[in-house]
Amino acid sequence: MKITNEKLDIERILYTPKQIAGRVDEIARTLTERYGGERPVMACVLKGASFFYIDLCRSMRSHIEMDFISVSSYGSKSKSSGVVRLIKDLDTNIEGKHVILVEDIIDSGLTLKYLIELFSSRKPASITTVSFLKKTDCGKQAAQADIFGFEIPNEFVVGYGLDYAGYYRNLPYIGVLKPECYSE
Ligand code: PRP
Repeated sequence: MKITNEKLDIERILYTPKQIAGRVDEIARTLTERYGGERPVMACVLKGASFFYIDLCRSMRSHIEMDFISVSSYGSKSKSSGVVRLIKDLDTNIEGKHVILVEDIIDSGLTLKYLIELFSSRKPASITTVSFLKKTDCGKQAAQADIFGFEIPNEFVVGYGLDYAGYYRNLPYIGVLKPECYSE
């Protein structure tokens, strides 16, 4: 079996596993304090948010419901198609419930805008949006996360759930992908 080494495609590491774990704990503490006895539904936006979501849920110190939604706007490209596609909906009826929407990254903000509109139409008690990363220059008009982990420059990042063409999600850190490894 030929073993390929994804690490060779990484230009530099932005956040190490330790830095990631520390920030996830801080966010979990904030959410635990904010929601106390409210038993929110934590909604994971697949697939990118998967690692962040699991780490975050595991660090929460209050009752939560876990659910998953899958949308896609990038396909196998490095730029958003501009159209968000719903692949799998939540199983939970969120009417009257507090919802924490968990994303991995806000880039154009299109996916978050779509999800906020979709969830709002279902009349939840509240929606809090959490994203592990946000791009510094995502437009002012773009939907913003209420809570985010780190602000990053406008580079193509992978790892800790983030992919290019389906690969690199399993890297334990967040790194900048070498430009020669992706095509627009
Ligand atoms: C990525 C990412 C966010 C979204 C952010 O998802 O996980 O959901 O794009 O980009 P935006 O702010 O420009 O909308 P993608 O569509 O690649 O699906 P994936 O999570 O399955 O990788």
